[in-house]
Amino acid sequence: MGKTATLGTESSNHQFPVVTGSVGPDVIDIRKLYAETGMFTYDPGFTSTASCESALTYIDGDEGVLLHRGYPIGQLAEQSSFMEVSYLLLNGELPSKDELAQFETTITRHTMLHEQLATFYRGFRRDGHPMAIMCGVVGALSAFYHDSTDISDPLHRKISSHRLIAKMPTIAAMAYKYSVGQPFVYPDNSLSYTGNFLRMTFGVPAEPYVVNPVVEKALDRIFILHADHEQNASTSTVRLAGSSGANPFACIAAGIACLWGPAHGGANEAALNMLHEIGTPDRIPHFIERAKDKNDPFRLMGFGHRVYKNYDPRATVMQQTVREVFDALKVNDPVFEVALQLEEMALNDPYFIEKKLFPNVDFYSGVILSAIGFPTTMFTVLFALARTVGWVAQWNEMISDPGQIGRAHV
Ligand code: CMC
Repeated sequence: MGKTATLGTESSNHQFPVVTGSVGPDVIDIRKLYAETGMFTYDPGFTSTASCESALTYIDGDEGVLLHRGYPIGQLAEQSSFMEVSYLLLNGELPSKDELAQFETTITRHTMLHEQLATFYRGFRRDGHPMAIMCGVVGALSAFYHDSTDISDPLHRKISSHRLIAKMPTIAAMAYKYSVGQPFVYPDNSLSYTGNFLRMTFGVPAEPYVVNPVVEKALDRIFILHADHEQNASTSTVRLAGSSGANPFACIAAGIACLWGPAHGGANEAALNMLHEIGTPDRIPHFIERAKDKNDPFRLMGFGHRVYKNYDPRATVMQQTVREVFDALKVNDPVFEVALQLEEMALNDPYFIEKKLFPNVDFYSGVILSAIGFPTTMFTVLFALARTVGWVAQWNEMISDPGQIGRAHV
């Protein structure tokens, strides 16, 4: 008999099986708790609860570790492309050269949108937030692609997944173009996934657009860093929406809606605004004191994390990427110097040491995105674009295993 855990109530003792995962802490399987004891558990934030079984992503917040299918995020960001990481998340293994080429061809073939969707965009106000537009357009895809929505068929799931990953850059770029009043730019399948997105966003039909390889690599890396992050709020939303058998495009629209909230996807914008507000290094001590003051609601944005109580491994990669982008674009924005000095001062301050507050992924990502030319309203859109692969991989994993349905009584 395997390991068990005993729960003692006032009247009796109950044994529950203990499940050991491939990595991380053991888990007490309490599925029979209510039947045996008539009691529920109370853990609304799922701080001690595994909501599902997943082989995709593992986080050890105390050690600052993030693994995708067993590979450390730093290694993937250094050595792989976003397409490789997408393949890894979807299929469980990194692709061979041929498999990658085949995957890239498949994704490339799905980058165009149904032409009717261009008309759909015109129904939005020009000053609508691009996340609002993205949420609406992705939901609307469910009214456009009817040939692949039998979610019990693995091939249909695969086609829907590929469509979502492929069309998201086109949708995001169109949302941007619509807001600035420029014509939509159609995909160019000779470019990489990320190069194509840059061209659709910043290119105009009047002149050729040359993709800057440093910017392309930096953005590709940002996509890798945001590809998946375990059972966070938006991923749990996608899983729960999908557990009723809902249309895949509608499920991803639900994920986008959840991601939009400032507590989830909006923190890099807040971090960048804070760095601008600080403005010069001599003002940093004043803001550090404010962050420590219990009577002041100000917090250091881009610092601290619900899970990471160590340096967020994604922040390390980001810091290095800022330097590369600034050098390549010859940007001399004082905001980076402020960020570096703020980080150093906070990391040496007893308040931040004691509370285990370290820079998170959002501390530097806004600085990079702004240097590339994205307005802050696009930051969360880019997050959604990248996270789509995580969402569809998690959704696929759940549907493949009927035991994983979020809540069986619908
Ligand atoms: N600046 C100053 N003090 C802080 C900060 C901060 N950024 N973060 C936490 N604290 C303090 C907080 O005041 C509290 O102090 P006390 O124990 O004396 O009351 C203590 O640290 C614990 O705070 P908490 O809010 O209970 O901790 P949490 O782990 O639940 O919060 C957090 C995590 C991300 C909400 C929080 O650190 C925060 O608000 N950070 C700033 C916003 C931010 O950068 N968010 C992006 C998160 S990463 C996004 C992603 O991965 O998708």
